[in-house]
Amino acid sequence: MLPSFRSAPLGPIKQKLLSRVAPTGVERRFPERDIIVSKTDLKGTITYANRVFLDVAGLTEREVIGAPHSFLRHPDMPRAVFALLWERLAAGKEIFAYVVNLAANGDHYWVHAHVTPTFGASGEIVGFHSNRRVPHPAAVEKIKPIYRKLREIEDNNANRANGLAQSRAHLNAILAQAGVTYDQFVFSLAS
Ligand SMILES: Cc1cc2nc3c(=O)[nH]c(=O)nc-3n(C[C@H](O)[C@H](O)[C@H](O)COP(=O)(O)O)c2cc1C
Repeated sequence: MLPSFRSAPLGPIKQKLLSRVAPTGVERRFPERDIIVSKTDLKGTITYANRVFLDVAGLTEREVIGAPHSFLRHPDMPRAVFALLWERLAAGKEIFAYVVNLAANGDHYWVHAHVTPTFGASGEIVGFHSNRRVPHPAAVEKIKPIYRKLREIEDNNANRANGLAQSRAHLNAILAQAGVTYDQFVFSLAS
């Protein structure tokens, strides 16, 4: 069933998102009991999205399946966080992260994401899976200025690679100063 969606033409909303819809600044919320779920192939192309995902993002399954996961990317998200995400996933490890995403109309929603590799029968990575829950509001407020700083470093560097390296170095410096690992840091935000 799902593979047939992947060759579907881009819907107008997806095209709009892909060309970076302007953020409205309006925050969307979803019920605490709900989990936003998506699965991707090895390249981050969406292969599955649950109903909660579609409802919160304001998209149809037809528009989502086959799209790169980056099409939901909010401009406030630092590239350093996604670099860490892909590094961890490539190493076969899970990662937790606070993420702000765009909805189809430019509204945004914060999530606490748990992203994991999916393993095949012989232990090889065959795709990725993300479960997202309602984040602790205090954690979001704590992460916002950190992400703002990381974005600032990335945006103020004419060289993309240098910007990313400096942004990651800044994140590492925050962790080193607090004497914690990234995982400990993420979980400490909610307390
Ligand atoms: C399972 C999975 C879920 C992801 N979820 C999101 C997401 O919700 N929002 C997002 O912006 N990127 C998400 N990503 C990361 C994107 O693939 C991408 O790296 C990121 O949006 C940065 O895009 P860019 O590399 O084009 O700058 C996810 C990746 C995987 C593998």
